[in-house]
Amino acid sequence: MNNYHHHTLPVNDAGYYGRFGGAYIPEILHHNVEMLTEAYYRYIDDPQFNQQFNDLMRDYVGRPSPLYRAGRLSELYNTNIYLKREDLNHTGAHKINNAIGSVLLAMRMGKKRIIAETGAGQHGVATATVCALMGLECVVYMGATDVARQQPNVERMKMLGATVIPVESGNMTLKDATNEAIRDWCCNPDSFYVIGSTVGPHPYPEMVARFQSIISEEIKSQLKSHIGRENPDYVIACVGGGSNAAGAFYHFIDNPDVKLVAAEAAGLGVDTDKTAATIQAGTEGIIHGARTLVMQTPDGQIIEPYSISAGLDYPGIGPLHAYLASTGRTKVLPVTDDEALRAAFRLTRIEGIIPALESAHALGALDKMDFKPDDIVVVNLSGRGDKDMHTYMAYKDKY
Ligand SMILES: Cc1ncc(COP(=O)(O)O)c(C=O)c1O
Repeated sequence: MNNYHHHTLPVNDAGYYGRFGGAYIPEILHHNVEMLTEAYYRYIDDPQFNQQFNDLMRDYVGRPSPLYRAGRLSELYNTNIYLKREDLNHTGAHKINNAIGSVLLAMRMGKKRIIAETGAGQHGVATATVCALMGLECVVYMGATDVARQQPNVERMKMLGATVIPVESGNMTLKDATNEAIRDWCCNPDSFYVIGSTVGPHPYPEMVARFQSIISEEIKSQLKSHIGRENPDYVIACVGGGSNAAGAFYHFIDNPDVKLVAAEAAGLGVDTDKTAATIQAGTEGIIHGARTLVMQTPDGQIIEPYSISAGLDYPGIGPLHAYLASTGRTKVLPVTDDEALRAAFRLTRIEGIIPALESAHALGALDKMDFKPDDIVVVNLSGRGDKDMHTYMAYKDKY
């Protein structure tokens, strides 16, 4: 096995996190994935690559994103709650971190056409944005259900010059869009596939986690300057495929004093058939090129997931998170639609911040935990709620 670099993640060179991960791909993609792996390890520690990445993070995305001590929220829970404001990034979510890293890599590889899948539309918007910036062609696959419920993001992608292709198979959400994006990549090996989360075959989960790791890198230095210590007691993040959580956890994974909490979308409840809580409801299987936990029937048919949040509505989970949950390193808390909505309206009213529905699941987890008055709790606010106004308006009289 090649010993490419020192791993910060619990992953081996074949892309396994314990028994999860790997690269289960059709023959036709082998060459593509090999070229990508080779380019990723060639550039990820390259000073010029990192200089360009860091310059764009600062001047284009607006990083570092603030670490804000939410005073009234802290008072409510009688503890110290800090919000990592990924919602303030250009394009409104953490997705831009990975889109920039991945597109810079695509350019190093000489690629001119970029493919992406999207659920909530945030990854699609981020990718379309970076393609506009770099003058590259961009094709985004999006389930027809999500096209309908995330309309503002569809219009943004089109205005940015991307081609948005609605996908009509399955329940017409993220899984189906990912299938189509992989199909496109098979037919167009000269294109570069920018995956929006820590899913897919190796090296994607590792690569996306690495580009998102800037989140925990900043949390450490920001906490240090706020309170004189680098490590919080808790880091809480929502998990769809797992990229914002991977980024928020990354530099704390090795430190057992920092408790890591992953909030999954329970939908109408983990015991109902309307859920997307894959770690709770899933069993081991293979989806989109990785061995991980999958919501499936005993004979391996995918069970259609459900969540009010388009970004969490996925029947798989990144292999890193399957592994961290299996070893007990993360605590996994399912949060229902109702609990997430309640948390979103509350944050809006007491802090003046409208969170994305996805991020609202991380906030919903606060009610399921017990804190001490001197605990330091970081919640990763992965995105802003502008794209979800349509859904919030439908519930405004209930909460
Ligand atoms: C704001 C926001 N948060 C979280 C997610 C979930 O993705 P991940 O688990 O990869 O962070 C999405 C996905 O679309 C999103 O838009």
